[in-house]
Amino acid sequence: MTAQSIAFAAYIVAALLFILSLAGLSKHETSKQGIVYGIAGMTIALVATIGQVANHAAGISIALLLVAIAIGAAIGLWRARIVEMTGMPELIALLHSFVGLAAVLVGWSSYFAVEHHSGQTEFAGSLLKIHHAEVFIGIFIGAVTFTGSIVAFLKLSARMNSKPMMLPGKNFINLGALAAFIALTIAFTVSPNLGLLIAVTVVALALGWHLVASIGGGDMPVVVSMLNSYSGWAAAASGFLLNNNLLIITGALVGSSGAYLSYIMCQGMNRSFVSVIAGGFGVEAPSSSETEYGDHREVSAADAADILAEASTVIITPGYGMAVAQAQYPVAELTSKLRQRGVDVRFGIHPVAGRLPGHMNVLLAEAKVPYDIVLEMDEINDDFEGTSVVLVIGANDTVNPAAAEDPGSPIAGMPVLKVWEADEVIVFKRSMASGYAGVQNPLFFRDNAQMLFGDAKERVEDILKAL
Ligand code: TAP
Repeated sequence: MTAQSIAFAAYIVAALLFILSLAGLSKHETSKQGIVYGIAGMTIALVATIGQVANHAAGISIALLLVAIAIGAAIGLWRARIVEMTGMPELIALLHSFVGLAAVLVGWSSYFAVEHHSGQTEFAGSLLKIHHAEVFIGIFIGAVTFTGSIVAFLKLSARMNSKPMMLPGKNFINLGALAAFIALTIAFTVSPNLGLLIAVTVVALALGWHLVASIGGGDMPVVVSMLNSYSGWAAAASGFLLNNNLLIITGALVGSSGAYLSYIMCQGMNRSFVSVIAGGFGVEAPSSSETEYGDHREVSAADAADILAEASTVIITPGYGMAVAQAQYPVAELTSKLRQRGVDVRFGIHPVAGRLPGHMNVLLAEAKVPYDIVLEMDEINDDFEGTSVVLVIGANDTVNPAAAEDPGSPIAGMPVLKVWEADEVIVFKRSMASGYAGVQNPLFFRDNAQMLFGDAKERVEDILKAL
């Protein structure tokens, strides 16, 4: 058996492990197993790749490869150790930008390696034309992913305003960029040259920036998952250029699963899939009418404890603030205390609560809240009516009635947890500030709602003491 066929076999094993990993990650119970499969697959892939290089290349190439792996691994380990759970989406966005950049660099180097030396390579005739197209597509997807992910990173980390950028004729800009890409690709396949390569790179970089800058904060979760998908297709395009089957398979897995996740999230948020990936296609800037909602009421932790002591049914809807405060542990303790007293306690989880898919489920599982009382939005949304008390812990956009009732709201149409239908609602947050989407929440001014101000963890602990 040649070294190459051993590497191919290893790649197939690695690809199968990646598929098993995705399957494992789809359920709580098997997620750890999924991670183990993923690590095993990646280790096999790395060893096979190093082995392949060692078989062909000189010592210096192997040394460079090992140094690059060591630097990448050290940075990856360092970032993964210090990243807060709430900072995960922005880290993921930044990692996607690396995949995009790598695809652009692979495309460029493949142009220099093949097109510049045509005649002396294995590519000839129509195969060479296919290679031209691959270079262009790889660079285009990679560059869109690169700048799009950087904008997503800047928006998620609040280094850039999360409001959508509204350039006049933005849909024509996007369509124009796509038309320019098609025209440039045809021109490049006919007569490849450096000028066209530079032109497509610039067009794609600008398009990536514009697409994501045009998308508002509320749609960012879908954008991150969409960029995940783009990064997969960029990796697959690089796989074709490098003639690497594993990269093609893995890229296609990431590309299609990311696209499917984005589709599910769009359905969950009642957004049009095409509109989100086309940079908010057809979305007009929301009118920034400053509606006056009246006064809000405040409640103390001791009074909140009294209200809970009287309750027969309680639903807790956690959000990003619970993650910031790390309030999941006292929340779990409060849950078990109330259940011991015979109160029916359940959790209602919005699909985009927090800052990454499954964020709240992970935190609650960490604090050992039983899975069977943690329900998805669709499973619990009809039960708020008739519930004695709802505790909104650090959630805001996901419980905003304006989404259901105000067609002019920037988050209009997004399904939300109908907490206001309960008898009493207690909202845990530090101020009257708006949530991630920057939209005021009329819930806070409703007659059945009371605000419990302060850090969510401290306030829940105060309630525990009072109980
Ligand atoms: P948000 O609307 O972001 O609101 C969180 C609230 O928590 C804030 O209003 C904040 O109010 C409060 N808070 C922050 N720190 C706190 C603390 N230490 N103690 C108590 N309260 C605290 O949360 P949400 O309802 O979970 O909605 C998520 C939003 O993020 C959605 O708009 C969603 O589209 C977006 N998003 C989601 C994802 C995914 S995939 N889940 C990814 C990116 C963005 P104060 O400042 O007044 O305390």
